[in-house]
Amino acid sequence: MPPMRPKPAGKPLSGENPLHVSQHCRVLAVVNQKGGVGKTTTAVNLSAGLATTGDTVLLIDADPQVNATSGLGVAEREYTLFDLFQEEATPEQVITETGRPNLWLIPASIDLAGIDVLFASRIARETILKQILQPLRERFQWIIVDTPPSLGLLTINALTAADGLIIPLQCEYYALEGLTQLMRTIELVRQHLNPNLTIWKVLLTMYDTRTRLAEQVESEVRKFFGTKVAQTVIPRNVRIGESPSFGQPVIEYDPRSRGAHAYLEFVKEVREYGASRSG
Ligand SMILES: Nc1ncnc2c1ncn2[C@@H]1O[C@H](COP(=O)(O)OP(=O)(O)OP(=O)(O)O)[C@@H](O)[C@H]1O
Ligand SMILES: [Mg+2]
Repeated sequence: MPPMRPKPAGKPLSGENPLHVSQHCRVLAVVNQKGGVGKTTTAVNLSAGLATTGDTVLLIDADPQVNATSGLGVAEREYTLFDLFQEEATPEQVITETGRPNLWLIPASIDLAGIDVLFASRIARETILKQILQPLRERFQWIIVDTPPSLGLLTINALTAADGLIIPLQCEYYALEGLTQLMRTIELVRQHLNPNLTIWKVLLTMYDTRTRLAEQVESEVRKFFGTKVAQTVIPRNVRIGESPSFGQPVIEYDPRSRGAHAYLEFVKEVREYGASRSG
C-alpha cells in the first residue's frame, strides 16, 4: 500500500511517488449517453467502494458538469483533465488527493465542454485519454472514468481508453431508448480503436420496487443483455440523492442506507468479475 497519510481533499499529489505499483490495472468507463441515469453516482460509489477494499483507485471526471469532482467534495482546482488534454500540465499536477485512503481524482472543469470543437481537426484525437492513462496504469489498480451524457469526443476517448464498460440504466419506460446507438458506437470503437473493449456490467439504477414498470424494464434488460446485467439492482433511495450535496459518496454519507448496501454489493460483483477475467 502507498506509504502515505491521507491529506485534506483537494491537495495535489506531492512529488514523491507513493502509489502502489500494480501489475493489473483495470480501466472502467461508466457510459450511457442518456442523461441522469446514475453514471456519476455509480462512478463515485464504485471508486470509493473499491478504495475501501484496499485497492488503489483513480477516478477520472471526464464530464464538464464536474459532478464526480464535487461529489467527492473536491473544490475547483487549478489543473484539471482539460490541462492534460491540452498537454499543459503533468499527471502529478493534476492528480488530486481526495482525503480518503486509496482514492485519487483527476478533476474536471467546465472547459471540457469545448473539447469537441477545440480538437475537431487534431490527429488521433480519440486516443488522447488512452495516452494519458498509459503511464498511470502502473500506479493504480483501478481507473474509473465518469463520462458526460453524449457520444462526443470525451465519451469516445473513454471508450477507447477503457478495458471494460459499466452501463447504468435507469429503470423507467425509456431505459432502452438510445441503447442501439450506444451499442453501435461501442462496436465502431471496437473495430477501429479498441478491439478488447468489453461490457463488464449493465447496472439497473433508481429501481422502484413499488412499480410494475421497474419489473418490466428489468426483465426486458435481462433478456437483452443476459448475464451482463449485474445481480445487484440499485434502489431509488433518498440518501443517494442527498449524498452529493455533502460532497460524499452514499457509502460514506450513510453506510447503513439501502443505497449504500446496494453499491457495496455492486463493488463486490465488479471485483469478482475482474478476478474471473485475470490470468
Ligand atoms: N438510486 C438513486 N436514488 C435516488 N436518486 C438517485 C439515484 N441515483 C442517482 N440519483 C440522483 O439522480 C440524479 C442523476 O444521477 P447522476 O448524476 O448519477 O446521473 P448521470 O447519469 O451522471 O447524469 P448526467 O448524464 O447528467 O451526467 C442525481 O441528482 C443523483 O443524486
Ligand atoms: Mg454525470
